[in-house]
Amino acid sequence: ATLHTLRDIHVFSTLDSTNRWALQAGQCGEACFAEQQTAGRGRRGRQWQSPAGVNLYLSVRWCFAAVPPHLPLLSLVAGLAVAEALEDCAIHGHGLKWPNDVYYAGKKLGGILLEAVGSLEQVVIGIGLNVNMLPEAGADIDQPWTSLQHITGETLVRNTLAAALLQRLVKRLHAFPQLDMAQFQHDWQHWDVLAGQQVQALMGTETLQGLASGVNNQGQLRIILRDGFIKNLSSADVSVRM
Ligand code: BTN
Repeated sequence: ATLHTLRDIHVFSTLDSTNRWALQAGQCGEACFAEQQTAGRGRRGRQWQSPAGVNLYLSVRWCFAAVPPHLPLLSLVAGLAVAEALEDCAIHGHGLKWPNDVYYAGKKLGGILLEAVGSLEQVVIGIGLNVNMLPEAGADIDQPWTSLQHITGETLVRNTLAAALLQRLVKRLHAFPQLDMAQFQHDWQHWDVLAGQQVQALMGTETLQGLASGVNNQGQLRIILRDGFIKNLSSADVSVRM
């Protein structure tokens, strides 16, 4: 059942969640898009606002031959693919906010939600990208957000973006089992919007402050605390200190 290339691309007018579809009905190498989602999933059990016809909601089900050695880095690598795809579409100035938010000028442009299919060699990679969403449609979003239309001043053709996303993602997924750590670090650094910033990390009830300094080989965020100690975070809400 293992397949290393993209197979069918399904396009739905409405789904509850493209990730859920890919988990339950998707086959290895299949991608699905929905024009809208009625129960779009965000990280940490949050909702993903998914109005009709304006954004991209994409999920890809991917099956590796064996559990890849650097699996914890996969969602970061998916972020690289999204950043690269945007660049392919002549969009500039965006970056990645650890762990996997696509950012532009301090606002969220898109997000990635990785879900494992029981056995860890199968994954679903979900990508949500704000393309032509107008402020009214995103009025309920509880964090600063922006859209490609807002930053470019143009209405973007979603098909062009969709093609670039799939191309970059499949290329990255294909190469992932042989991930070159030095190359990964280099690529991440290029897009990392937190690097060198004083940040605040919220972990449960604990708050940490320090200097963000990239990610380690496990994909954890490195924070240099005031006393010089380094803390590696595997899960936290991170914001830049004002
Ligand atoms: C985040 O919280 O930042 C991750 C958001 C991921 C949203 C995408 S939209 C397509 C796919 N299907 C879902 O239900 N969620 C992801």
